[in-house]
Amino acid sequence: MEEKLIINGGKKLYGQIKVDSSKNAFLPILAGTLLCNNQVCLKNYVNLSDLRAMRQILEELDCNTYLNGNNLIIDPTNASFSRIGHELTTKLRASIFLLGPMLARFKKAIIAYPGGCRIGARPIDIHLKGLRALGAKIIERHGYLYCYGENMKSGTFVLDFASVGATESLMMSAILLSGRTTLKNVAKEPEVEDLQNFLNAMGARINGAGTDTIVIDGVNSLSGGEYCVMSDRIVAGTYLLAAASCGGEIELTNTNPKHNESLISFLSQTACKIETFSDKIKLKADKRLSSIKKIQTLPYPNFPTDLQPQMMVLQSVSEGTCLLTENLFENRFGIVSELDKMGADITIKNHSALIRGVEKLYGADVFATDLRAGAGLVLAGLVAEGYTTISNIDFIDRGYEKIEEKFKLLQADIKRI
Ligand code: UD1
Repeated sequence: MEEKLIINGGKKLYGQIKVDSSKNAFLPILAGTLLCNNQVCLKNYVNLSDLRAMRQILEELDCNTYLNGNNLIIDPTNASFSRIGHELTTKLRASIFLLGPMLARFKKAIIAYPGGCRIGARPIDIHLKGLRALGAKIIERHGYLYCYGENMKSGTFVLDFASVGATESLMMSAILLSGRTTLKNVAKEPEVEDLQNFLNAMGARINGAGTDTIVIDGVNSLSGGEYCVMSDRIVAGTYLLAAASCGGEIELTNTNPKHNESLISFLSQTACKIETFSDKIKLKADKRLSSIKKIQTLPYPNFPTDLQPQMMVLQSVSEGTCLLTENLFENRFGIVSELDKMGADITIKNHSALIRGVEKLYGADVFATDLRAGAGLVLAGLVAEGYTTISNIDFIDRGYEKIEEKFKLLQADIKRI
């Protein structure tokens, strides 16, 4: 039977949470293990359905994966080529990250078009343009990408847009090419930097992640080893926005405040009290917050699209009016019709939402339309008076491990049935 979350909201949040490892860093790193010729141990694995899907794809390619306590062990020693079909790629858009590593390891990749959350058209033209610029031959036929890498050579490529996934896939495709590859106008997200750190720890020679140019000096092979994946800035931001919406006092550990500077700067404009430490954030909110006038989502270090629905919940119960503009994905207002049922006052025009803060939201039966909208609904349920039932929570499980257990640590009344 389909699982649901039931929340009895309207209570303040108090307590401490240790933030889990980042899904969006783990995914490309898992794909990157395909480049290694020895066993890799990734510490602090988090049991998310997206990560299970990526593991399943690696196993399809004859990599051995197993858990040893909290550590995920991947043995890619005997990896062998296999076609990646729709049944795997529809589960996971990040399957596209495998193009680069597969081309590097097998000199070919046959992969069905990727799936993932339906938050927009999500083209892959930049991925393909970049691989072609490095000499890959790619044929798109019958819903599959047939890619051949025998003639790939290092070179320079300027991305049309700083796509996170394209940056990561191209970086991995160039690691085993002889000579220097330069990627310009790349994504500066911390997850790209974490991928660079992982690959370098395995013997790659990459520089520049975190800036807009990445330089890759080819090496003959990558070894294996141990790596600790960064903590999840979006999960941390979700808890901060939850406490800001509900009120209360929380402390997050295992989190880097630098990765959430834009969110922290917005929250600091309200009556929230935020204290940051090297790997810890404390937030206290003891009264209704005032709205933030204008917010727009943009690539890092600006406000992330992955926190937009959660921010919409906070603005829905703040005092005043907020204009929230989504610039990354065209269908990322799926939460609005659900918040409407709970009493929010939101008008959508093109890519912007005009949010007039209301004093209260009220519990309702609502449906998650994608991962982050689902997280937003959990926040809405926590802040609303009465009971909220959330369906389609598979979406939430893609990116938050047992979200109900985490919020219980903050004294929330939430359960999964
Ligand atoms: C990653 C994150 C996702 C986040 C997004 C933006 C992972 C697993 N997912 O997704 O959570 O919301 O970054 O921060 O890390 N685009 C093109 N052509 C392309 C590629 C992208 O037009 O070839 C467009 C997309 O449609 C979108 C924008 O570029 O409008 C950003 O996409 P991108 O940065 O590639 O996001 P993902 O890597 O898919």
